[in-house]
Amino acid sequence: MAIRLGDIAPDFTAETTNGTINFHEWLGDSWGILFSHPKDFTPVCTTELGAFSARKPEFDARNTKIIGLSVDSLESHQSWAGDIEETQGTALAFPLIADENRNVAELYDMIHPNELETLTVRSVFIIGPDKKVKLTLTYPASTGRNIDEVLRVLDSLQLSAGYTIATPANWQDGDDVIVANSLSDDEAKVKFPKGFTTIKPYLRVTPQPNK
Ligand code: BEZ
Repeated sequence: MAIRLGDIAPDFTAETTNGTINFHEWLGDSWGILFSHPKDFTPVCTTELGAFSARKPEFDARNTKIIGLSVDSLESHQSWAGDIEETQGTALAFPLIADENRNVAELYDMIHPNELETLTVRSVFIIGPDKKVKLTLTYPASTGRNIDEVLRVLDSLQLSAGYTIATPANWQDGDDVIVANSLSDDEAKVKFPKGFTTIKPYLRVTPQPNK
């Protein structure tokens, strides 16, 4: 069964390159990103694991832990980590789940047989400190993920968790945000002391409140 936004992220215990991890315990009070890749020792996956590793400090700064997964063995992950470091100029900086028995892949519906018969596709789940799923993304084997986009949506999710706002198309950290329609104008005046502009009654924008 597919995982839907707002669901509690299924808990699991799994073998990883950093030892045995119980997912919910490991997450603690942090935000989390669980992502799958199809296969070790493949080109796109190698670039992705390098790219996530290189940007790990930016996830740390957002109180967000990252963890990868494929259905390869622990030995395979450990051996591939050497290639990642050699070719991508950065060591693997987060745990990789060895999901050989596909327990986690099935729990999170990461195998899409019409795309890849037995391998995980490129799934991304962002999980909040309340353990609820805040975002799901699914990419095919042929398309490597964009780390800027993962960080952008994480910024949007964290901002909207703290303020009654939404973020517009192509929003980047520092841009104006949208005042949620659940707020009346009077409530918005109190919540957003910098003021807001009404473009339409349903489209009100305000400077990013935490800047
Ligand atoms: C890749 O990472 O390049 C890849 C992985 C599985 C299937 C196709 C491509």
